[in-house]
Amino acid sequence: MAYYWFKAFHIIGFVVWFAGLFYLVRLFVYHAEAKQEGEPVQTILAKQYTLMEKRLYNIITTPGMAVTVAMAIGLISTEPEILKSGWLHIKLTFVALLLVYHFYCGRVMKQLEQGTSTWTGQQFRALNEAPTLLLVVIVLLAVFKNNLPLDATTWLIVALVVAMAASIQLYAKKRRRDQESLALQESLPE
Ligand code: HEM
Repeated sequence: MAYYWFKAFHIIGFVVWFAGLFYLVRLFVYHAEAKQEGEPVQTILAKQYTLMEKRLYNIITTPGMAVTVAMAIGLISTEPEILKSGWLHIKLTFVALLLVYHFYCGRVMKQLEQGTSTWTGQQFRALNEAPTLLLVVIVLLAVFKNNLPLDATTWLIVALVVAMAASIQLYAKKRRRDQESLALQESLPE
């Protein structure tokens, strides 16, 4: 029974963790784009985003990560045989990348607070696609385990996820260009 409890909270933990990671980098996009505003708007927005980012990272994202890892340790200690599974080793490699991403976001958050980040909103938008790919790969490995089929269906699903991420980026780029040309038209004399 303990195993099912650990698994249930393992799943709850990573849902919270990912919700935090996705929203955090979206806040980075707004934070970076706030630099385009004049004063005092820029300072007010930067202060507000810093506060929101810190609360999100410390109260949602990091605890989500801690619950996921703690429950995973619970799962493994209940059934230590799992440690011999090949799929788990591959999954752990991707989880390690996810942990690097998590702590890197913490660093970026500090840079944004100190005003030393050089990333643009567009770059943060692209960065926000990385956890999507990690999520898909980790969940596929957790569900299929050693039977993950590397056939046309799997590659089609991966291609669809990549295409979706690319179209979100292209749409955001187009919207930004439209806004810029509208602003230019409005600034031109009649
Ligand atoms: C901290 C590193 C992690 C370890 C050591 C770990 C280990 C495990 C273990 C041992 C199971 C039980 C497998 C079973 O009973 O069949 C499991 C289940 C699962 N894990 Fe993880 N996990 C980790 C992180 C993650 C992350 C980050 C995600 C999501 C992105 C995730 C998604 C899942 C899912 C969806 C299941 C349920 C699979 C099923 O019941 O079919 N895990 N994990």
